[in-house]
Amino acid sequence: MHSVVISGTGLFTPAQSITNDELVESFNTWVHQHNAANADAIARGELEPLGESNAAFIEKASGIKSRFVMDKAGILDPQRMVPRLPERSNDEPSILCEMAVAAARQALERAGRTPADVDAVIVACSNLQRPYPAVAIEVQQALGIQGFGFDMNVACSSATFGIQAACNAVQLGQARSVLVVDPEICTGHLNFRDRDSHFIFGDAATAVLVERADLATSPYQFEVLSTKLLTQFSNNIRNNFGFLNRAAEEGVGGDDKLFVQEGRKVFREVCPMVAELIGKHLEENDIEVSKVSRFWLHQANLSMNHLIVKKLLGRDATPEEAPVILDTYANTSSAGSVIALHKYQDDLPSGALGVLSSFGAGYSIGSVILRKR
Ligand code: COA
Repeated sequence: MHSVVISGTGLFTPAQSITNDELVESFNTWVHQHNAANADAIARGELEPLGESNAAFIEKASGIKSRFVMDKAGILDPQRMVPRLPERSNDEPSILCEMAVAAARQALERAGRTPADVDAVIVACSNLQRPYPAVAIEVQQALGIQGFGFDMNVACSSATFGIQAACNAVQLGQARSVLVVDPEICTGHLNFRDRDSHFIFGDAATAVLVERADLATSPYQFEVLSTKLLTQFSNNIRNNFGFLNRAAEEGVGGDDKLFVQEGRKVFREVCPMVAELIGKHLEENDIEVSKVSRFWLHQANLSMNHLIVKKLLGRDATPEEAPVILDTYANTSSAGSVIALHKYQDDLPSGALGVLSSFGAGYSIGSVILRKR
């Protein structure tokens, strides 16, 4: 078995960003229009008027202040409230491929590698834009990588599950290195007319290069000490969009064909599961929690992250111990924990321990223990 390192990370951030105030202004304009158009039915008591959204609520409930997006105008247009991402011909790179390649090039650069050093590409994300051909194979071709590629979807946990799959391939000698890329256009599956969730997501792409330790030359290496995954079925985060929708016309366009969740239940159920999994994982590797310098957690909700690290450490974490990126990125699904890793790693000394952890729909939870080389 070969030892494995993450030898480079990369991040693509969209050029446009939406503040809570901008999002709420568009939402409330639509609510007023909707309530005015249905004034008679509301007066007769046949319809409940829709309630306004509120920027202060959003920041207090989630910690989110703004989010990067691929198309601001389409989302903020009260007559549309959906990003406008025009269709491309099959001869052009897909938008997900473009984002993935930008993040992958940065990971390769930090790893001091070229596509000739890579044997496989895994695109691991929640929001794949098509079933096939795999986006990973398109990314492979765009970068000029020989070998193989495949897509996988484990919702918000896709990155850590992808990293474990990549580690397995490198450990077994099936690949010298594997690019794991997480391109997420979460705004494509977000219902911007649902007050409970319209503020939750943003768009981004991340990449990590998982490489054989004895081949790696990068100054930014983290040894992968261990990975641990867990899934447990839940209906509390769901998206029923799929190719069988056309065979059930009665459901086409229903709210459940976009992201829906029971946020409170998710909060209550997932926090203890994550703390327990990370705690167990560290224990199995004879690592005391107090020896961990950094927790790069999935970025969905600030209070959730505070609670998880508090359960682990027995005290509040410092901002350095559990870095936050969701304030400006919102929830970017599988990309979130890797954005935190990418942005908050260069200050760590050699030998420092960190845990990369994702959690989300499924439920699915992943933990990756890393040691700075
Ligand atoms: N503006 C104003 N009020 C709002 C609102 C908005 N945008 N959205 C909801 N509210 C209201 C609700 O209607 C509710 O009113 P009520 O008390 O009169 O019924 C109240 O605010 C509280 O709503 P609730 O949904 O219980 O808020 P919350 O504190 O649970 O926060 C989330 C909501 C989504 C931020 C939070 O539950 C969460 O982040 N959960 C975890 C989600 C997660 O990690 N998901 C993983 C996805 S990958």
